Amino acid sequence: PPVTPFTTAMPVSPVLRPAARSSTTDFYRLAIQPANVEIFPGTTTPALTYGGLFPGPTIRARTGRAVQITYTNGLSEVSNVHLHGGHTPQDSDGYSMDTFAPGASRTYRYPNLQQGATLWYHDHAMGFEADHLYRGLQGFYVLEDDVETPLRLPSGEFDVPIMVRDAHFDENAGWVSAFPRDTVLTNGKIQPYFRVAARKYRFRLLNAANDRLLKLNLNGTEMIRIGSDGGLLPTPVPETELSLASGERTDFVVDFGRFPVGKQLVLSDANAGPVLRFDVVRSAPDTSRVPDVLRPLPAMPPATVTRDITMSFDFTGATPVGLMNGKAFDPNRVDYQIKRGTTELWRIHNGDAAPLDHTFHVHLVQFRVVDRGGAPLLPVDAGRKDTVFVTAGNSVAVQATFGDYLGKYVFHCHFIEHSVMGMMGQIEIVP
Ligand code: C2O
Ligand code: CU
Repeated sequence: PPVTPFTTAMPVSPVLRPAARSSTTDFYRLAIQPANVEIFPGTTTPALTYGGLFPGPTIRARTGRAVQITYTNGLSEVSNVHLHGGHTPQDSDGYSMDTFAPGASRTYRYPNLQQGATLWYHDHAMGFEADHLYRGLQGFYVLEDDVETPLRLPSGEFDVPIMVRDAHFDENAGWVSAFPRDTVLTNGKIQPYFRVAARKYRFRLLNAANDRLLKLNLNGTEMIRIGSDGGLLPTPVPETELSLASGERTDFVVDFGRFPVGKQLVLSDANAGPVLRFDVVRSAPDTSRVPDVLRPLPAMPPATVTRDITMSFDFTGATPVGLMNGKAFDPNRVDYQIKRGTTELWRIHNGDAAPLDHTFHVHLVQFRVVDRGGAPLLPVDAGRKDTVFVTAGNSVAVQATFGDYLGKYVFHCHFIEHSVMGMMGQIEIVP
């Protein structure tokens, strides 16, 4: 059904309240359940949700304070939950094969011993993940950090998570998984507006599309990038276009104080067109700022192991098969054993031809992008990363230290249909 642009307000997902608190931990409960959600005004769409909401409720956690979330599976098939970007013990990772049955519950424990960052949670159940994400099982997990407080970045109601993704709907507003996925959803709504005060805002932008590169501009207005997947950048970087692939996050500040009340600015994607309009509706005091120095990026130890990983498709059979180093995912195969605490350099190659871009994600760690085959790094490569865009035919090198937790974790293409087709591998951290 057609939607008149900018007639619906962009919702901000409510922050989930803990069911209990101890001196060390916040305890949450969340149902994984089918629910009817309003994507098209006046019509409902049957979605898969966390707590009846799409996007799911936002979990606001604090560095150094643990979180436990008990999920109940109200679906008719297996589910699990991965905290994307989280440094989590193996039994709370949402490892692909570690799923729980319909009617069952499962508790995940997140120690939150990592710096503040815009993380997100989503389904990761082997074979179901693409469909479950597509139908709505995705939400924000914002890790706040006392270290950020003295920076006086915009906070509270001026710190707004925005999830952008695409979808395709039939005439009855039901999901169609076929491409092209030509409808862009911004916090679950089609081309919404968002009323802002004439002051600075921090936006936490997530590309939650199963398979899309976003290139967003704001009528040429400066968007000051302050954070990447794994937390703050060392220094702010002004941009007029934000490009991010599926799974990536960018925190940025816009100063609407430069505009008079009444001004409207449209966030537009280079391919999909307008996704969100900001309406400056009131003036407001503003004591927030964007300091010149945000958070230093410590040097990483030199890599002692180098690996080459090629992502590609095999098109020779009846259906395409996704491959890592020529092999489709096999849960019984460990691709790399890594000694705990080792720093490794991974050279990731996209072995496919245009237009088959990939986006590489590995669980457990934040890495640094160190090389793009000699080409300049992309702005989005800066800082601590867990997901990196790898264009057709090209290579990216990343470096990570595999600390703390033992066990099996996956790496995969975050164009999540590719992952379901087999473009996934696994590491095992050993003592
Ligand atoms: Cu965002 Cu393995 O996933
Ligand atoms: Cu891919």
